[in-house]
Amino acid sequence: MQNVLVTGGAGYIGAHACKALARAGYTPITYDNLSTGWQDAVKFGPFEPGDLLDRVRLDEVFARWKPVAVMHFAALSQVGEAMSEPGKYWRNNVTGSLTLIEAAVAAGCLDFVFSSTCATYGEQDNVVLDETSAQIPLNAYGASKRAIEDILRDFEAAHGLRHVIFRYFNVAGADPEAEVGEHHRPETHLIPVMLDAIQGKRDALTIHGTDYDTPDGTCIRDYVHVCDLVDAHVLGLKWLQDGRGSRVFNLGTGTGFSVREVMEASRAVTNRAVPAHDGPRRAGDCTALVSGSTRAVAELGWSPERSTMHQMIADAWRWHQSGHFAK
Ligand SMILES: NC(=O)c1ccc[n+]([C@@H]2O[C@H](COP(=O)([O-])OP(=O)(O)OC[C@H]3O[C@@H](n4cnc5c(N)ncnc54)[C@H](O)[C@@H]3O)[C@@H](O)[C@H]2O)c1
Repeated sequence: MQNVLVTGGAGYIGAHACKALARAGYTPITYDNLSTGWQDAVKFGPFEPGDLLDRVRLDEVFARWKPVAVMHFAALSQVGEAMSEPGKYWRNNVTGSLTLIEAAVAAGCLDFVFSSTCATYGEQDNVVLDETSAQIPLNAYGASKRAIEDILRDFEAAHGLRHVIFRYFNVAGADPEAEVGEHHRPETHLIPVMLDAIQGKRDALTIHGTDYDTPDGTCIRDYVHVCDLVDAHVLGLKWLQDGRGSRVFNLGTGTGFSVREVMEASRAVTNRAVPAHDGPRRAGDCTALVSGSTRAVAELGWSPERSTMHQMIADAWRWHQSGHFAK
């Protein structure tokens, strides 16, 4: 079996990726400092505690497991925090990724799959974004991810580091078997916040801005199911192993949902109204972010079959109601 080093494998998306990798016949080696992740989410392969910024530890882990590739999910990813503490984001995400990339190159591990984000695009006149859209991030989180993309390109030119960059839109849902699911701390993502509010685990949802230039005044986002997203990563890894070269792919469905539309879908799935109140806009948020690309479908053969709003909320709701979430 081939080992794949999965940074951030104790987090939401990384844990789902470990399950998908194990199913595809790889051994996922989780490397994580548990700053926002959970050790009990590491279920599908060995756990190596460590920090991206710790080069000595990274060298040990590369030497021990000799991974054929890296899937790099580890990052800080809260827009609000990135606005108030940009240094933390540049250090953890950019310096941390640079340290990891240098360790991978030194170990001769030259296939690299990277979690980027639609936040690298920022606000654009045309809200439908494809991989060639300009990258003008509105916050230090998006800027840190764009910088890592630049590092990967430079390391390909200099050291032959082949990479697939995935720019995710909003990731939602959970493993249908509820072995892993979404559990950020603090939770800022719309669907889990709504489900927590429905269950009375937190105060009513604050709708951040109701005066945007959208049909109902709330922000519009494109949502993709976490299981579809990680399936794309396995396809991206195979793409690299087949020698098809470095490539950027958006991962979204091309359909946008406003905050109020997501609330209505949650009410329909759970049969319970979402307690919510209107609030002011949040710094760093764009009006709308929707993927305009079918590149992943056309080139990778990706088929995002679980990414209907109903399915994403139903899977997240199952996870929220499972015992795991209480931990
Ligand atoms: N969730 C989304 O909707 C979304 C959208 C776009 C992009 N992304 C990207 O996907 C990736 C995973 O996101 P997630 O939602 O699973 O977040 P998460 O917080 O659940 O997972 C991130 C993991 O990385 C680990 N980590 C962070 N800094 C580290 C460091 N310095 N060293 C070692 N481990 C470290 C954390 O402990 C955590 O387990 C991130 O890179 C994020 O930017 C997520």
